[in-house]
Amino acid sequence: MAQNIAAKQAESLLGHGDQDRATHTDISNPDREDGRYADESGEKMKGLAWMGKNDVRIVETSKPRIVEDHDAIVRVTGTTVCGSDVHIMHGVILQVEKGDILGHEFCGVVEAVGPAVTTLKPGERVVNSFVPVKKTNASKLHEKLYGSRMGGIFGYSHFTGGYAGGQAEFVRVPLADNNLMKLPHSVPDEKGIYLSDVLPTSYHSVTHTGVKENDCVAIWGLGPIGLMACYWAFQKGAKRVIGIDRDWRTEYAKNKLNRLEVINYATLGSGETVPSKIHEMVPGGVDVAIDATGGEYAKGFTHKLELWVGAEQDTSEMLNECIVSTRKFGTVGIIGDYIGFTNHFNVGSLMERGISVIGCGQAPVQKYWRELLEMVENGSADPGIILTHRFKLEDIAKAYYMQEKREAGLIKCFVETQFSSRRADGTPELTRL
Ligand SMILES: NC(=O)c1ccc[n+]([C@@H]2O[C@H](COP(=O)([O-])OP(=O)(O)OC[C@H]3O[C@@H](n4cnc5c(N)ncnc54)[C@H](O)[C@@H]3O)[C@@H](O)[C@H]2O)c1
Repeated sequence: MAQNIAAKQAESLLGHGDQDRATHTDISNPDREDGRYADESGEKMKGLAWMGKNDVRIVETSKPRIVEDHDAIVRVTGTTVCGSDVHIMHGVILQVEKGDILGHEFCGVVEAVGPAVTTLKPGERVVNSFVPVKKTNASKLHEKLYGSRMGGIFGYSHFTGGYAGGQAEFVRVPLADNNLMKLPHSVPDEKGIYLSDVLPTSYHSVTHTGVKENDCVAIWGLGPIGLMACYWAFQKGAKRVIGIDRDWRTEYAKNKLNRLEVINYATLGSGETVPSKIHEMVPGGVDVAIDATGGEYAKGFTHKLELWVGAEQDTSEMLNECIVSTRKFGTVGIIGDYIGFTNHFNVGSLMERGISVIGCGQAPVQKYWRELLEMVENGSADPGIILTHRFKLEDIAKAYYMQEKREAGLIKCFVETQFSSRRADGTPELTRL
């Protein structure tokens, strides 16, 4: 939290860079600035707000209005909770503010469009890109820390644009022609929503790291992103794929992908480590290692302490495991979220063994969107392997806490709103929390 306060102070010194943005940013709740961004009808809606560290709640706020000509308002029919949402709930993402409406993945029906929107009309079913394209982030702190600004992210703090998110009944989407993709009737919300983030992100992680025929690949983290990355690695022709996680998540992944080999790092014997196990399985190391965990998940005491006192922002443990487990001149890709600086990084192994480390960035969703939609339509990609639960928007705060604890059986949920259609056949029944 201390770093969040420091970030706020730094931004007030640096100033905000809204002038050259393609859209009006920092409307993280339609009721901000005395309701300037609220729909003139006065209609209210439910949305999930960040209320403080480890405190997210459903609140009542105003339905958003069209602020700029290229905006659309989407009536949300499906949303979900991401591993990234847990980072924001913990307050580790800089510049999150009390009352910000969260949620970067959603699908729904176009409710209204501004006069400059040319490809969409009210009534059409759509899914969003979790990263809105064009110049959509005004955070100067971002520029200062990272060297240049990346795009915004819906419902993900003022560090990434300050957009109100889609864990709500309505959401404003700027530059709607670029940031919404139409969903055909053949693709139900329970599949279509994952085109917002999970499918493009996981696909990008294996494409960008160059996974190819006959490769041996190891993937750290078997949440929705890591599990789908394993799926894509096989699809790219990998000879062997090893998934690393703990407890029931390794069993779940193995059940879904029967060629997958797994390492449950919580049950390793004394003297064994994840890299020693990988070298035993693949002498010399894997061709590609992908980290789909996240920098806040310290394993050992030293990093736990250093994160806690703010001596680093991310642990280097999983990255070091990736580097050491990769063959000479192999590749390590980072798709899990890392925020800032890390200690005890094994730069020696990286340099001496010629390892290429690739930061995968926030996934360029639009690059893969149509290709992936086609695969979902023709059945060659099935996001059904990650979908385990269905909840109501009213219960979404509890779903965050379940996700945080990685409660048995929960990989990815579908969250319905009062506007959702009937549950699609073959998808999980509603669970009330
Ligand atoms: N770059 C992007 O565009 C992008 C997009 C979406 C999500 N993400 C990030 O990707 C990561 C994964 O997302 P998710 O939704 O699957 O999250 P998740 O929290 O459901 O899964 C993370 C998994 O990592 C495992 N893990 C933690 N420490 C580990 C360790 N030391 N070794 C092996 N496994 C370990 C956890 O048990 C968990 O199963 C998160 O950091 C998320 O923020 C990035």
